Amino acid sequence: MRLLVIGGTVFLGRAFVAEARSRGWHVTTFHRGRSGSDLPGVQVVNGDRENAADLARLATHGPWDAVVDVCGYAPAVVGASVRALTRHAGAYHPRIQHQRPRALARRTGRRILAAAALRPGRRAR
Ligand SMILES: NC(=O)c1ccc[n+]([C@@H]2O[C@H](COP(=O)([O-])OP(=O)(O)OC[C@H]3O[C@@H](n4cnc5c(N)ncnc54)[C@H](OP(=O)(O)O)[C@@H]3O)[C@@H](O)[C@H]2O)c1
Repeated sequence: MRLLVIGGTVFLGRAFVAEARSRGWHVTTFHRGRSGSDLPGVQVVNGDRENAADLARLATHGPWDAVVDVCGYAPAVVGASVRALTRHAGAYHPRIQHQRPRALARRTGRRILAAAALRPGRRAR
């Protein structure tokens, strides 16, 4: 399983990374390198999610089976990363529910998952 975590160095994203690594998954993190630190064994891509060129460079490191997005706080920002990345990913899991994943999926034409792949009892391979 190949997982991309946007963020991944703080609190929620870091917990996703730790769980995925404990399962032996290949994990890529994408962040600016300003806060927190990466756990050992991850592939780190530094960049700003609000910079289109950085997102395009990130996409070259795929594909991934799933994307977990813990730091998308504005619909336009999440939409941009969905458009940039989901051609390179099996599923995209945005953290925020109020962005209406189905509406976002309709607008972007991409498959958006509202259910986390790491939900206890439903282990992904
Ligand atoms: N942290 C807490 O104590 C806490 C407690 C309760 C609830 N929550 C909630 O949990 C959710 C997730 O919070 P979180 O603390 O895990 O993380 P977050 O603050 O949502 O995101 C932090 C991660 O995203 C990266 N990041 C931020 N802006 C970025 C950008 N423009 N481009 C690329 N990467 C960027 C940061 O690294 P860089 O800065 O290096 O880019 C860091 O890895 C939020 O809804 C929060 O309200 C958090």
